[in-house]
Amino acid sequence: MEKERKVLYSGMQATGRLTIGNYIGALKNWVNLNEEYDCFFGVMDLHSLTVRQNPKEFRDNARLIYTQYVAAGLDPKKNCIYFQSHVPTHAELGWILDCFTYMGELNRMTQFKDKSAKHADNINAGLFTYPALMAADILLYQADLVPIGADQKQHLEICRDVAMRFNSIYGDVFTIPEGFFGKVGARIMSLADPTKKMSKSDENVNATIYLVDDRDTIIRKFKKAVTDSDACVRYDVENKPGVSNLIDIYSVITGKSKEDTEKEFEGKGYGDFKLAVGEAVADALDPLHKKVDELLSDRTYIDECIKENAEKAYYVSSKTLRKVHKKLGLTERIR
Ligand code: TRP
Repeated sequence: MEKERKVLYSGMQATGRLTIGNYIGALKNWVNLNEEYDCFFGVMDLHSLTVRQNPKEFRDNARLIYTQYVAAGLDPKKNCIYFQSHVPTHAELGWILDCFTYMGELNRMTQFKDKSAKHADNINAGLFTYPALMAADILLYQADLVPIGADQKQHLEICRDVAMRFNSIYGDVFTIPEGFFGKVGARIMSLADPTKKMSKSDENVNATIYLVDDRDTIIRKFKKAVTDSDACVRYDVENKPGVSNLIDIYSVITGKSKEDTEKEFEGKGYGDFKLAVGEAVADALDPLHKKVDELLSDRTYIDECIKENAEKAYYVSSKTLRKVHKKLGLTERIR
């Protein structure tokens, strides 16, 4: 039977503070996708365990991320937004897919290599099998489309390979997902080194604008943003990466084109331009901050959404897991 609507699945790890890079590159583009697709968004807290977490910070942060999703306009009554750890089918299918994923495939993952280098004292098995759990996330919901950044392409490729491998043995069990690159949101770069992607975990506090940053902090960080010495607001990623990044941010946030932005700041210095970018970003985040505060002050609404959506995710994903069990020949449960 053909599904009426395509299923779209995405998520972010539950650690680190979300940045305007996450907002512009992902979150903001997810809002309204539910008009066209059945959307599932996970807060991937099991994946976060591959790195040691402080329990209290971890719990608060995961909730903040969920709340920021909702505050940014993702409607939890129209999108299934849930914590990965609340839905046991993920870990269950994750194990099964471990048994269908080759060491050689996992060994090639650049994220594994990067993270092993960064956490040399804790290169655990979960870090290695991370992509199998991610494949489970996606395949449980029979997702057609997976919005991801360039850094996750390799993981999606493994997911597809594992799904095809499974299907070739057991018949059509899993939908083969594709990357979804919609209308491309700009890739936001570090303010301190505009040749690097803006990262949640940058050591330089001036490199990153966090969604929780207040107005003064935002403006101060933009004032310090690295540019160049030719004092001309012109888009040229190769020769003027810093200024181009600021133009990208400004145009996405204000909805103005790059050309109009160049015109607007013709003959003006970088000081004026940086201040304008800072103010535009602060203005845009202001309603988000208010909404987050409101949602955190009364827990009932978010609690209810967390509960309902975990139940929904469990219901949908259990269907796939039951089918997988049956195909594998696991003994049927007596109920
Ligand atoms: N690995 C993704 C990241 O680091 C997060 C993630 C986990 C994810 N499971 C997913 C993204 C499933 C999309 C679909 O950003």
